[in-house]
Amino acid sequence: MSESFTTSNTAPKSQTSSATENVPTIRLDGVHKTYDLGEIHVHALRGVSMEIYPGEFVAVMGSSGSGKSTLMNIVGCLDKPTRGHYFLDGKDVSGLTKTDLAKIRSRKIGFVFQQFNLLSRTSALENVELPTIYAGIPIEERERRAEAALKRVGLADRSGHFPSQLSGGQQQRVAIARALVNSPSLLLADEPTGNLDSRTSIEIMDILQQLNAANGLTVVIVTHEPDIAQFAKRALEFRDGKMIKDVLIQRRSIAAEILPTLPTLEDDDDDETIAGALPETGPNGSSTPK
Ligand SMILES: Nc1ncnc2c1ncn2[C@@H]1O[C@H](COP(=O)(O)OP(=O)(O)OP(=O)(O)O)[C@@H](O)[C@H]1O
Ligand SMILES: [Mg+2]
Repeated sequence: MSESFTTSNTAPKSQTSSATENVPTIRLDGVHKTYDLGEIHVHALRGVSMEIYPGEFVAVMGSSGSGKSTLMNIVGCLDKPTRGHYFLDGKDVSGLTKTDLAKIRSRKIGFVFQQFNLLSRTSALENVELPTIYAGIPIEERERRAEAALKRVGLADRSGHFPSQLSGGQQQRVAIARALVNSPSLLLADEPTGNLDSRTSIEIMDILQQLNAANGLTVVIVTHEPDIAQFAKRALEFRDGKMIKDVLIQRRSIAAEILPTLPTLEDDDDDETIAGALPETGPNGSSTPK
């Protein structure tokens, strides 16, 4: 795995940081995490130090059990280091209470999960609205924000649908809209394409690349797939709770360029074409746009 994404050697700090912004969004200093299960102690992170700057797009890779989700939970303020420090936007948050961490999370961080984690009896719009309630946004403002977030992920016309009435890719887009609704500066996604087919995965990467480029959102994703890591700007690799590699992605994949070359799998309501029957290429050999 480690050699299969196209990278340069270790990423020099000057290239990973933005010229105008010197405070890292994320700075970990000697972070350890141990889970205590009675007599057994699982040392999930063993002294991780790193910096991620505003506007970066980072892929976290590594085999199962290497500590990726543990890292994301700490970075996402869902959990705390056992030892070491985590600075979010320059502020040490390692010692904060759960309540204070929750406040910071709701203001600064959006989290997307592999399993979407949508409430099943709740419409797409209401799912997206939920974090605005926790953040104390005035009621008249909530729906407007949720609608805007759904629009940003291309799902304005699906706001009344329940999760069961949406495809996997659409459900993940609702989850991204939910993560965006409080305008975070950091978007974390733990295997966001793990349950999706390859075209839908690239559609999700397209949304993440657009948010990163247009809005300067700092994005960190966990992925097992080198092809998906190739959409990031930088890749980190974990093994046994340690970061063993930190490289810049060379020849980065751009989802918006790849998507028009792929056959469409999904049908639109207003489109009579049967998805599975679409030719892969048009009469002149060009790809079939959706
Ligand atoms: N809540 C927990 N309690 C106890 N041990 C845990 C807990 N969460 C994770 N671990 C252990 O910590 C180690 C790192 O787990 P983690 O979930 O971070 O791995 P991962 O890299 O995300 O793996 P995967 O690719 O399978 O998702 C593993 O040995 C795991 O069993
Ligand atoms: Mg994991």
